[in-house]
Amino acid sequence: MPQSMRAVEISEPGGPEVLTPVTRPVPQPGAGRIVIRVDWAGVNRPDALQRAGAYAPPPGASDLPGLEASGTVAAVGAGVAQWQVGDRVCALLPGGGYAEFAETDAAHALPVPDGMSLREAACLPETFFTVWSNVFDRGGLQAGERFLVHGGSSGIGTVAIQLAHALGVRVFATAGSAEKCAACERLGAERAINYREEDFEEILGAEGGANLILDMVGGDYIPRNVRTLAPDGRLVMIAFLGGPKAELNFAQVMAKRLTLTGSTLRPQSDLAKARIAENLLAHAWPLLTAGRVAPVMDSEFPLEEAAQAHARMETSSHIGKIVLKVAGGA
Ligand SMILES: NC(=O)c1ccc[n+]([C@@H]2O[C@H](COP(=O)([O-])OP(=O)(O)OC[C@H]3O[C@@H](n4cnc5c(N)ncnc54)[C@H](OP(=O)(O)O)[C@@H]3O)[C@@H](O)[C@H]2O)c1
Repeated sequence: MPQSMRAVEISEPGGPEVLTPVTRPVPQPGAGRIVIRVDWAGVNRPDALQRAGAYAPPPGASDLPGLEASGTVAAVGAGVAQWQVGDRVCALLPGGGYAEFAETDAAHALPVPDGMSLREAACLPETFFTVWSNVFDRGGLQAGERFLVHGGSSGIGTVAIQLAHALGVRVFATAGSAEKCAACERLGAERAINYREEDFEEILGAEGGANLILDMVGGDYIPRNVRTLAPDGRLVMIAFLGGPKAELNFAQVMAKRLTLTGSTLRPQSDLAKARIAENLLAHAWPLLTAGRVAPVMDSEFPLEEAAQAHARMETSSHIGKIVLKVAGGA
């Protein structure tokens, strides 16, 4: 392995322009860990939060942005039995994906699904880990239930719609334009709701309410979500793009026996993430291999143009995932 590598760092908290190409030392794998030669890195909204100074890397993690990548295993640490140098993988990272080499826990890597390109595989880890752990593990979504996902055209939303639809769930989604709504319906939502023109409370209310809502908006959506939930419904919060505070009538929580919960992925233990990876391999990877679920690709940028990638994400004009081309293997 070389001594140094190309990377993009956050020079100081700020807008996309603080993403700066640099040269850094290549990481070495600790015990139980691997180093990946990165071909493609996924871009996620939490990267923009970190760039703005609002989402610090956990202790011990790389300060470079980048929560997911695909490529080949370049080095394995002591005690790693499941991977060999040269294996094609995609992996959840504690940080450091915007670079030619990235280090992670060996148990947080998954094989590139048969027939899938490394470009698409780079988009899988952050969204699939987040959706599986929040919607199916935490939210307990079951076949036949009504599921409402806000931000349906986001990287997270496009995966949530497809996985839920493939597992026999009735899916409803909100999005901010007719084009985004059409994309949600193509992915398997039976009804996409343009929130600028329609009221999700009314539409779900006519169906008997939602059994599960996945929300990344918060703010005034919180009381509206609670009113929209069916008896025994669950609300899972994964972000607060519209703000974290709301006034809520908790009598509705009691009367309908609701569960209000949420989580963030990054600070969870290595063991918790390894368990999510096992579940994904067992339940979601067969759907990817069969072509029943696929990442929705929005656009790609060279690593050095990470700032332009963030600018595109923050205009919210994208549908699906944005990737950075680091080396560019297929
Ligand atoms: N908890 C976790 O572990 C975890 C993990 C990963 C991501 N996340 C969060 O999940 C969310 C989705 O992530 P992503 O990477 O899929 O993001 P993304 O692709 O950038 O999508 C965010 C979408 O939210 C919609 N939106 C609704 N209200 C918004 C508002 N007030 N401001 C900005 N956008 C708004 C936008 O589409 P419209 O046109 O429809 O408004 C936008 O496309 C992010 O907030 C991210 O931080 C949480």
